[in-house]
Amino acid sequence: MTQGVVILGATGSIGASTLDVIERHPQRFHVEAVTAQTSVEALLDICARHRPKLAVIGDEGLAIALREGLRASGLPTEAAAGAAALAHAATLPGAPIVVAAIVGAAGLVPTLAAARAGKRLLLANKEAVVCAGALLTDAVRAGGATLLPVDSEHNAIHQCLAGARQLERDVRRLILTASGGPFRQQLDLSAVTPEQACAHPNWVMGRKISVDSATLMNKGLEVIEASRLFGFDAERIAVVVHPQSVIHSMVEFGDGSVVAQLGTPDMRTPIAYALGWPDRIESGSATLDFTQLGALSFEAPDLTRFPCLALAYRALQAGPAACIVLNAANEIAVEAFLERRLPFVAIAAVIEETLGRLAPAAPQSVDEVLAIDGAARRAAAQAAATLGIR
Ligand SMILES: NC(=O)c1ccc[n+]([C@@H]2O[C@H](COP(=O)([O-])OP(=O)(O)OC[C@H]3O[C@@H](n4cnc5c(N)ncnc54)[C@H](OP(=O)(O)O)[C@@H]3O)[C@@H](O)[C@H]2O)c1
Repeated sequence: MTQGVVILGATGSIGASTLDVIERHPQRFHVEAVTAQTSVEALLDICARHRPKLAVIGDEGLAIALREGLRASGLPTEAAAGAAALAHAATLPGAPIVVAAIVGAAGLVPTLAAARAGKRLLLANKEAVVCAGALLTDAVRAGGATLLPVDSEHNAIHQCLAGARQLERDVRRLILTASGGPFRQQLDLSAVTPEQACAHPNWVMGRKISVDSATLMNKGLEVIEASRLFGFDAERIAVVVHPQSVIHSMVEFGDGSVVAQLGTPDMRTPIAYALGWPDRIESGSATLDFTQLGALSFEAPDLTRFPCLALAYRALQAGPAACIVLNAANEIAVEAFLERRLPFVAIAAVIEETLGRLAPAAPQSVDEVLAIDGAARRAAAQAAATLGIR
């Protein structure tokens, strides 16, 4: 019998890589349900190829388009729409595996639903961990779920930690690698365009994470994610720029040994690791050819040109509510930049201004997380309007 997989955010970059790996293992996996927010045509294409039981479109205004598209194609897939349907898809009894690949805090509620339902949760949606790390790990424990990180750095750390018995005692520090993004060597960032920011040197990704990589906020979110997933303080999580993106991250143990995970930069590797775990399954990624690699180089991140990384460390040290504010402000600022309403260099300023304006207490529930997220989005929108392009 094959295992059912639900892909939340199936029309995105991680969704496409997941479908690619699943197609390589028809004896092992089938697609049970897929979701998107607005991409009806892409969702219909996926349904035609994978014939899932359920397709969900987040935007309720597109419910009819999805239903009629499925009917016109003669597909047996059931259609649903809206936020509740997204969360319901994450709990389908026919699917033991859920891939959380929605971008942004919008993925939080369905990701939590999958955790509570005891799924094998393949977690790409880093913003959900940044906003509600403790709630998510509690839900994983309460639901008996298995959380496997898909983010390549955290997936690497998961692999490097295999066999470590007591993390607190055995590990000195986690070392996250960062490519440095498209502007690693560019001194003047004042005229950066969305097209330039989205042209990542090593990875093909969605637009939001591409901009996050260009500002180094992606690494900042990952520092917070690593802290939540593996239980380390900010002081024990280091970032090193490694432009080749061959080492995906490292763990330094108490005896001085450093264990690294290497591979070609291809998200199908961590996805296949998490789908197959504890088995190793074929991912389709290319073999790492050491004879062609040349040098692997490393440098310290430049926190003056890329202040977002420092802001993320600051938020991690300030506490869980500050991390929600940081994430929300970043989502608003990146959207404004992509819509050409905010200069690239003002993204960090919007986040800093928003962090300075709000100091909420640590949230105790999802509703409190969402309330802080909403307040931060409103404050960030004001800051973006003030600092934006007129
Ligand atoms: N791409 C990578 O290589 C990579 C690596 C590591 C981690 N991640 C993380 O994985 C997540 C997905 O990244 P991505 O690059 O795959 O993003 P992406 O290409 O932009 O895809 C995002 C997916 O989420 C859906 N979506 C967008 N807004 C939504 C909303 N409000 N409610 C429900 N669904 C929504 C999109 O549907 P529509 O198509 O309808 O918009 C799409 O299916 C992010 O958290 C990212 O940080 C990505």
